[in-house]
Amino acid sequence: MKKRIGILTGGGDCPGLNAVIRAVVWRAAQYNDNFIGLKNGWAGLLTCETMALNRNSVAGILYRGGTILGTSRTNIFKDPQVAKKVTENIKKLGLDAIIAVGGEDTLGAAARLSQRKVPVVGVPKTIDNDLPCTDFTFGFDTAISIATEAIDRLHTTAESHNRVLVVEVMGRHAGWIASYAGLAGGADIILVPEYPFTIEEVCEAIRRRHDAGKFFSIVCVAEGAQMMTKKGKEVILASRSKDAFGHVRLGGIGAVLAEKIESATGYETRVTVLGHIQRGGSPTAHDRVLATRYGIEAMDCVNDGDFGKMVALNGTAIVRVPLKNVTKKIKTINRDFYELAKVFQY
Ligand code: F6P
Repeated sequence: MKKRIGILTGGGDCPGLNAVIRAVVWRAAQYNDNFIGLKNGWAGLLTCETMALNRNSVAGILYRGGTILGTSRTNIFKDPQVAKKVTENIKKLGLDAIIAVGGEDTLGAAARLSQRKVPVVGVPKTIDNDLPCTDFTFGFDTAISIATEAIDRLHTTAESHNRVLVVEVMGRHAGWIASYAGLAGGADIILVPEYPFTIEEVCEAIRRRHDAGKFFSIVCVAEGAQMMTKKGKEVILASRSKDAFGHVRLGGIGAVLAEKIESATGYETRVTVLGHIQRGGSPTAHDRVLATRYGIEAMDCVNDGDFGKMVALNGTAIVRVPLKNVTKKIKTINRDFYELAKVFQY
């Protein structure tokens, strides 16, 4: 029997979302199934705002960043009435299955719906690469390519002016972007949320470079990096306001660090915050292929009636893992990997 499947994209956008949408629609066409797009993440199941999806309407989106469906950080489990409305609207829209493309919050909601017997399949996305049960999320490769290019560019100006340049990249709980882009770009110091740092050790490393005749330095810091002070570990917030999931807005560690480095060492220091540039624009070839493989496998899960799963990358293979395992713990970088960065410090 022909199925009617809904797809939504939730949380922060990420390059490769459109590649997933295109892939599920083309795979569904092979099975003779129909797709509708739910607008703006889980909010689409509250407003019933939808978009027709077929092979024609997804033409020309493979290389486009963002998501043609729109996205939001809607928490459907904040209020039991809202969650009830979602399950009612799934019936009202006549959906036989839902494919949810998102990070920890979007997939957390998917896992809870699955416990309520809603036929749902998850697809992992986040530029932060911090979702467990998968080696990589799509969007990450694009983000690190952009951040690496930024570090390359900062190198030439830092060297010309004998300056310290601090570059702040995204990464709330995990330093995947900072460590990959930092290693790829040859940053001299890499600071990540997993391993708190002191300002003294950062300044010491920069002084040692100077003493060795290198009069410029690049510091790559994740927005969630924790600075050890007399008060304990400190993270810098861009604002105290919280989103629907209770997440505060991070940002500002780069500026704090730059100011402290300059006053402690006397070396002229500047800061660059990459911000949403890391999340925008066209996905890399790697992310397009990964997102496409995820989309095809997600549709295959629907076709097999294999619900409550998230598609994932295990080595080079695409596999299926229980959705309930995905939201247990953030995937952080381990000490051995982080230590690689230290090899390149004076
Ligand atoms: O998607 C995750 C993320 O990129 C985090 O690294 C960052 O803290 C957050 O999104 C910022 O998102 P926004 O400003 O869109 O709420």
